[in-house]
Amino acid sequence: MAQHKVQEALDASGIRSTVWDEAEAEPSAEVGQRAIAFARAGRFDGVVGLGGGSAMDIAKGAAVSLTNEGDLLGWIKEGFKNPLAPLALCPTTAGTGSEVSDTAVFATPELKVGLVSSMLYPNVAIVDPQMTVSMPAAVTANTGIDVLCHAIEGYQSIQANPLTDALAIESMRLVNQHLRAAYCNGTDMEAREGMALASLLAGIVMGNADTTIGHACGYAFVYPATKLHYPHGYAIAVTFPYVMEYNAVAQLEKHATIAEVLGENTEGLSLRDAAFLAPVAFKKLMVDLDLPTSLKAVDVEKDMIQMLAGNVLKSPNHCRRNPREVTEDGMITLFEHAYEGKFGWES
Ligand SMILES: [Fe+2]
Repeated sequence: MAQHKVQEALDASGIRSTVWDEAEAEPSAEVGQRAIAFARAGRFDGVVGLGGGSAMDIAKGAAVSLTNEGDLLGWIKEGFKNPLAPLALCPTTAGTGSEVSDTAVFATPELKVGLVSSMLYPNVAIVDPQMTVSMPAAVTANTGIDVLCHAIEGYQSIQANPLTDALAIESMRLVNQHLRAAYCNGTDMEAREGMALASLLAGIVMGNADTTIGHACGYAFVYPATKLHYPHGYAIAVTFPYVMEYNAVAQLEKHATIAEVLGENTEGLSLRDAAFLAPVAFKKLMVDLDLPTSLKAVDVEKDMIQMLAGNVLKSPNHCRRNPREVTEDGMITLFEHAYEGKFGWES
């Protein structure tokens, strides 16, 4: 449906277009390379990326390929020289913020890698909530919770600044106000519009302050070696309350603000007690969205914890941006809490 709308608009403008629709969730570098071969064979003048984060990231790679020699893994390692071919991105989910980010993420057999460049911003981002109406409820939940993780991680990041903090807080407020309604009734346009704006704001936050170990924990168990294949948002959300528990002690004031923005009553509480309501609020949202709140509920074996904790440390940039030092012992405790689905104070 969305594809036809875009093609009609291109046709009406006299722009000839050809569709490549082999994008897949959590795209591999191999799939990205197939899109690149298609783009180069067609000798196109520009690229329109329509879809979720995966489709938009693949479109970024295709736009790079039209003006640069080489291949995806080479650009990831060594960068690329020339500005992209004209690129327009149009999200059909309210989730990734890829339409306003400088990154495209691909999976290799060993790990997930990011193509990052200030040239990866598209010329045009078209954010139209109507495009998200047909998203099924589960996708709305998975992508919407990812928005909240982008906003919270950008707020936690040591690269945060007053401008990104303001956008992050507004994004969190919008998610808290609209995600439940968008999940329960996909045609609620006020909710869809709120989530589209929340995603856009969180994308800008992420493009500047970036993410912390929330995303590294999600990547830890979607590494191909673990054989666990979860959608991006779901993978991050399932450990995220425990990421917040881990980080709250390093940023009491910020986590008290998160708790308040997510609807908790912090009046009369000590700063510490208010801060630790933030992960509680996040978990309540997960319950309302029917998302799993423990690793043991999603086929993770207890003996995988050591490997998962080690995988987090394979994302050094996420660890560096985290407000609390990331240690292997700390990650083991975090995954133990996530496995049981219980905060430290509950066990
Ligand atoms: Fe994400």
